[in-house]
Amino acid sequence: MRKRKREYYYRKAKEEKFRSRAAYKLLQAVEKRRFIKPGDVVVDLGAAPGGWIQASRKIVGSRGFVLGVDLKSIQPIDQTNVRTLIGDVTDPQTVEQIRELLPRSSDVVISDVSPSISGVWELDHARQIDLAQQSLRIATSVLRPKGNFFVKVFQGDMLNDFVREVKQHFAFVKLIKPKASRARSAELYVLGMNLRRVE
Ligand SMILES: C[S@@+](CC[C@H](N)C(=O)[O-])C[C@H]1O[C@@H](n2cnc3c(N)ncnc32)[C@H](O)[C@@H]1O
Repeated sequence: MRKRKREYYYRKAKEEKFRSRAAYKLLQAVEKRRFIKPGDVVVDLGAAPGGWIQASRKIVGSRGFVLGVDLKSIQPIDQTNVRTLIGDVTDPQTVEQIRELLPRSSDVVISDVSPSISGVWELDHARQIDLAQQSLRIATSVLRPKGNFFVKVFQGDMLNDFVREVKQHFAFVKLIKPKASRARSAELYVLGMNLRRVE
């Protein structure tokens, strides 16, 4: 069953020319909660090979803008208003580099950043939450007030504290498990909508 689901999204991505099956996780989440809209400026953290860049560019259209950031270089995407940056979300200088490439403050920050998986559950969970915190720090620096944030996490002890942290910054917070994400994987996504204005 799990293999069939993986193969289904693999084939669908190939047919629809998405660079990753992950594109469907984003599309399904946006279909449910509408946190990316036509014309939006989107920052995509951990963007390689580029499935989420393609999916968000499809949603924002030619009036929008998408910037993909990753440690690895991303093969050029042949569309207007798409830029990529080689950068590390844990490096404090990355925020400035992102700002320099954006046409204005961003409407949405999405993050699918993942560490290489060690197989040791607690270690992978802790690393994933650390990367999610780094993504949150970037989001609160580059988003406009009322902007949205969508980030990958792994289930585990530290998740509740992270969700509490997201709630301090965003008025509406939900956990989302898209259908395209394997049911038995620890992966899920935290959505924060309506960034609170900093007093
Ligand atoms: C699951 S993949 C992202 C897939 C992507 N959303 C797509 O649809 O094609 C996770 C990415 O996070 C990146 N990554 C891991 N640590 C990072 C870091 N510290 N800074 C930036 N990117 C990082 C990896 O290089 C990898 O490309």
